[in-house]
Amino acid sequence: MEQAGESKAIEAHLTEDRVFPPDSAFTAQANINDPAVYERAAADPQAFWAEWAGQLDWMTPWNTVCEWNPPHAKWFLGGQLNVSANCLDRHVRTARRNKAAIIFEGEPGDTRVLTYYDLWREVNQFAGVLKNLGVNKGDRVTIYLPMIPEAAVAMLACTRIGAVHSVVFGVFSSDSLRERINDSQSRVLITADGGWRRGSVVPLKAAADTALDGGACPTIEHVIVYSRTSDPGTVSMQEGRDQWWHRLMENAPARTEPEPMDAEDPLYILYTSGSTGKPKGILHTTGGYLTQVHATVKSVFDMKDEDVYWCTADVGWVTGHSYVVYGPLAAGATVLMYEGAPDWPQRDRFWELIEKYGVTIFYTAPTAIRAFMKWGTEHPAGHDLSSLRLLGSVGEPINPEAWMWYQEHIGGGRCPIVDTWWQTETGAILITPLPGLTATKPGSATRPFPGIAADVVDENGNSVPLGGGGFLVLKEPWPSMLRTLWGDDERYRNVYWSKFDGKFYFAGDGAKRDDEGYFWLLGRVDDVMLVAGHNISTMEVESALVDHPSCAEAAVIGRTHEIKGQAIAAFVTVKEGMGANSDLARELKEHVSRKLGAICRPDDILFTAELPKTRSGKIMRRLLRDIAEGRALGDTTTLADPNIVSSLKDKYENQE
Ligand code: PRX
Repeated sequence: MEQAGESKAIEAHLTEDRVFPPDSAFTAQANINDPAVYERAAADPQAFWAEWAGQLDWMTPWNTVCEWNPPHAKWFLGGQLNVSANCLDRHVRTARRNKAAIIFEGEPGDTRVLTYYDLWREVNQFAGVLKNLGVNKGDRVTIYLPMIPEAAVAMLACTRIGAVHSVVFGVFSSDSLRERINDSQSRVLITADGGWRRGSVVPLKAAADTALDGGACPTIEHVIVYSRTSDPGTVSMQEGRDQWWHRLMENAPARTEPEPMDAEDPLYILYTSGSTGKPKGILHTTGGYLTQVHATVKSVFDMKDEDVYWCTADVGWVTGHSYVVYGPLAAGATVLMYEGAPDWPQRDRFWELIEKYGVTIFYTAPTAIRAFMKWGTEHPAGHDLSSLRLLGSVGEPINPEAWMWYQEHIGGGRCPIVDTWWQTETGAILITPLPGLTATKPGSATRPFPGIAADVVDENGNSVPLGGGGFLVLKEPWPSMLRTLWGDDERYRNVYWSKFDGKFYFAGDGAKRDDEGYFWLLGRVDDVMLVAGHNISTMEVESALVDHPSCAEAAVIGRTHEIKGQAIAAFVTVKEGMGANSDLARELKEHVSRKLGAICRPDDILFTAELPKTRSGKIMRRLLRDIAEGRALGDTTTLADPNIVSSLKDKYENQE
């Protein structure tokens, strides 16, 4: 539990005593405004979730709400439904048929509006394209697209025919893409020539080609390429393997009937970093997942038909899955989708978009908020943001200063803020305010969502009394929880269930509760770094460094960073005869960036003759964190050679 910045974080939280009660006008109109919801859900969680599930369209009703054989849960057994039918067909039968489902703005300024009917038509056709290519129920499809409506079309088309998608975020490198394709054994890859980012093209097709080069992904039979950034004539296409999206759509059937899916049929795999080894394929299934993303969109975002909702996350992350695509579309919402960077062409792009489209609900990450703070208040101040009525935050703990800034400069002091805690694994929001009911405190995600049994426990699994801190655990299953890790159930048990002997789900986060039972999240207790809201494993960056011919060994840690939350610092030993100089440091940073993607590029590289290790040879990252944070060194008694850390500390403090 002694982790980077933690004691400081606890102190800061303890002195935070500002409280913002819900606004009575907001409460009066809120979807959820009866405080009894918490007790009702706690008294009978299954009845609570069944009520929400009942708001979806089922092809066959379920007969069992939840079957719990720890650590495996099954929800809504016997029930059948289709996700695309819930997100599209049921709206198309109502006045929502002509309502905007997706308002898209490309980075260069191109715009498109897809009504529910438009989206339904595209998804029907693209589902037909996949079927024509021989994709069957249960087959895996990898999606590697920019943030464009076709990403949602591809995802929904997969769900329509029962194919399992695996979306790989466009900033991931060819190596990462290849690894994810091979782990999921995908038969089809859907990509684009490129996407726009800060005025340049991110060359997705070229990266995909590198991933597939020389038969490196033997399961891939077809590559579908969407034309976004260039003249199709200039893109290299491999005969027999690659086909243009627009050509395939020309020959597609107008209708593809939604496949009845069992509630527990796989919906998607999404890879997330593990603290060791290869990425983990988080597996989500159909009925419980859709139930909970829909329930939280209605309750936490207070979604109404009139809203214009903007979640800034890329579809490559779980936030994009649950709160750009599935949750909001299941609720019949209007979703704004923006392709590019917040500072392109100017630092007011987000505020310009909010003004232009009259956005009412805005959901973003603390790392973005801290960047906005740094850029200055003149950017939001230059735009009319009065359409906003609710703000959300996700991805990491939001520091009280950023919370206050968000409330004042973006929310105009009138919008409730929902600080939502959840994970790729949890599928949907688990700890959050309900905006019509919960008094908020800057920096606290407040209380578990109704029906969620979250607790803070000590090393032995005993509940820590209010006022104390410990490990965040979930004591009962919830509908949108991961079901297993793709192809590796043993790892699923080890990673999430072994710490407390299979009794509780361990989230990997530390948390503290105040005297009123409010949760204050304290970050990861394992060796996963949280850089700009992204989980990056220390292990992955270390292996990328060691992959460089001059690098002997590396230890990587996250250190506190004002904007990104954490920045990557690497301690590196070089091989005999190699010059440890600034040129090499630059080269190593480039190397990691090429191997893993730019987000994994280390901010600092410090060369050292040796790394601090225990006698059993385990690197003591805790001490490296102390050094990087400028703290007094913790316990060094288990070190093989305690002198190493003190000389490293001197060196770190005296570097340029
Ligand atoms: O440490 C927590 C942090 O992000 C982790 C989950 O990361 P990921 O699976 O990438 O999902 C991010 C989007 C849900 C958590 O274990 N985290 C997420 N939201 C919050 C948070 N930490 C504090 N407060 C939050 N609101």
